[in-house]
Amino acid sequence: MKKIVIQDKEFKLSILSANIKRSIERMAFDINQDYEGKEVLFICILNGSFIFASDLLKKIKLSCQISFVKLSSYFENESTGTVKELIGINEEITGRNVIILEDIVDSGMTIETVTSKFKSMNPASLRIATLLFKPQAYRKNLVIDYVGIEMPNSFLVGYGLDYNGYGRNLEDIYVLEENEK
Ligand code: IMP
Ligand code: MG
Repeated sequence: MKKIVIQDKEFKLSILSANIKRSIERMAFDINQDYEGKEVLFICILNGSFIFASDLLKKIKLSCQISFVKLSSYFENESTGTVKELIGINEEITGRNVIILEDIVDSGMTIETVTSKFKSMNPASLRIATLLFKPQAYRKNLVIDYVGIEMPNSFLVGYGLDYNGYGRNLEDIYVLEENEK
C-alpha cells in the first residue's frame, strides 16, 4: 500500500482518485435530478472544498452560480472547538436555492455554524453536500443531504484536505497511519 510522509506524519493510501470521481458523478447526478428546472447558488467552503467544488461543478447541468466563503475551525489534526467568522458572502441569498459544498463533515460544528448563518438570510431552500462524512465523529442532528463517501474516524489528507496546509494537491486521499482518534 502506497505511503507518503508530510512533515512529521506518515499517511497511507485510502481513496483512489477514480473512486472520488465516481462519488462526485453520483452526487452531481442526484443534484441535477433534484433541482431540475431550478436555479442553484453553490457555496464553496474554503479552503478544503476548492477541488471538490471544481470537479462537482463541471458535472452540474443546471443554471447555477458559485460563491466562496471562508471559515476555519481546524488546527493541525484536531478540532479546536472554536469556530471563526464567515467571510466573503457578496451574493443575495434571500429567495435562492442554496447548496453548501464541504470537503468533509467531522464533528459537524463547522457545517452547523455555516448553515445557521445562511438560514438567517432566508434562502428559498438550503441543502448540504459533502464529499466526505465521518459518521462516528458527527455530533449534530442536522441532516447532510448529499454525502460522497462515509469514512472512519481518522485524519485524512489529499484532494483539498490538508495537514498543516500541506497535502491539498494530492489527487488521491490518504489516511494517517497511527491515531485512530
Ligand atoms: P468539523 O467542524 O469538526 O465538522 O470539521 C470540519 C472541518 O475540519 C472541515 O471543513 C475540514 O476543513 C476540517 N477537517 C475535518 N476532518 C479533517 C480531516 O480528516 N483532515 C483534514 N481536515 C479535516
Ligand atoms: Mg473545510
